[in-house]
Amino acid sequence: FEGMTLVELAKRTGKLVPTLQNILVNVGEKVDSEFDSLSIDVVELIAMEAGVNVRRQHSNEGAEIHPRPPVVTVMGHVDHGKTSLLDALRQTSVAAREAGGITQHLGAFVVAMPSGASITFLDTPGHAAFSAMRARGAAVTDIVVLVVAADDGVMPQTLEAISHAKAANVPIVVAINKCDKPAADPERVKFQLASEGLLLEDMGGDVQVVYVSALKKTGLDDLEEALLLQAEMMELKARVDGTAQAYVVEARLDRGRGPLTTAIVKAGTLVCGQIVVVGSQWGKIRAIRDISGKSMDKAKPAMPVEIEGLKGLPMAGDDIVVVESEERARMLSEGRKKKFEKDRLQRISEGREEAPEEQS
Ligand code: GTP
Ligand code: MG
Repeated sequence: FEGMTLVELAKRTGKLVPTLQNILVNVGEKVDSEFDSLSIDVVELIAMEAGVNVRRQHSNEGAEIHPRPPVVTVMGHVDHGKTSLLDALRQTSVAAREAGGITQHLGAFVVAMPSGASITFLDTPGHAAFSAMRARGAAVTDIVVLVVAADDGVMPQTLEAISHAKAANVPIVVAINKCDKPAADPERVKFQLASEGLLLEDMGGDVQVVYVSALKKTGLDDLEEALLLQAEMMELKARVDGTAQAYVVEARLDRGRGPLTTAIVKAGTLVCGQIVVVGSQWGKIRAIRDISGKSMDKAKPAMPVEIEGLKGLPMAGDDIVVVESEERARMLSEGRKKKFEKDRLQRISEGREEAPEEQS
């Protein structure tokens, strides 16, 4: 939408040019001629006011593109060992510290591989209630690690994870976990997955399968190798310079510091002091910290960071858009809030409103 003129926008939205000009005046933007090109923020504002859905498309034209680490999201049924597996990969113990051992949020961290490569991992909850969070997790990732307990086999949220990955067009690497258990039956798991339509590697397909035990820390090298191979095939690259395109992984409220947002930059560089619109929230980035809590002045692609400075809590999966002024940020955020509320009311009136979503 960048660079669109009022005339083109009228054509796209099916509205008359004077109608759009009125909206422009209402949102306080000045445009001299209907043939002047509009900034992407203004296009979004007008489109929202006109009741048209827009999605920002970022162009990498002419920019320098560099290889970037893969973003890998771990998914699977509750208690199949996702958090334990990530713990084993980073040699700490988050699973033991979680309330009741159940993950209620998305976690993010980077694992540096002995080979020098690094992988950004996102954890997701397996509990049935967190479906929306899993869908958003699948949408921001490059690869899904599908964790299936070898003793329990394919369960409802295993199937759900497969369908999220398919919907987002993201490749799956299967990790059959708990292979140390006496009741483990990896062959049965493979058969179940195959009958759900997953084309496993040793059955002639291209979905890799690895056998692991998070408890005994076995098979971890195979998993890392499979992920690096998958990432290599995808030739993941990103633009490093220029305006950041980033996504929210999770958000929480800190008593002292206010809303804290864990985010992953997809392209470009996010810089401290920038003004951002995040979903329907906005703010000026006051601090950027890496996952170990170290303060930094910028964040580059595939790096999970914590951002401080938003005025409210965004939602997992929201996009982070850098804008040029606080005034514009306020305007976009208000426009989006209005539109979300309108959409919500419409869903309610159509009887489609889901139960309010859980957010940590
Ligand atoms: P949710 O986040 O709630 O969906 O669970 P999860 O998939 O993250 O599972 P978690 O890592 O919390 O592990 C669940 C239980 O399985 C814990 O009691 C772990 O100790 C156990 N567990 C995980 N991996 C293994 C394994 O490889 N072998 C055995 N025997 N137990 C395991
Ligand atoms: Mg967990």
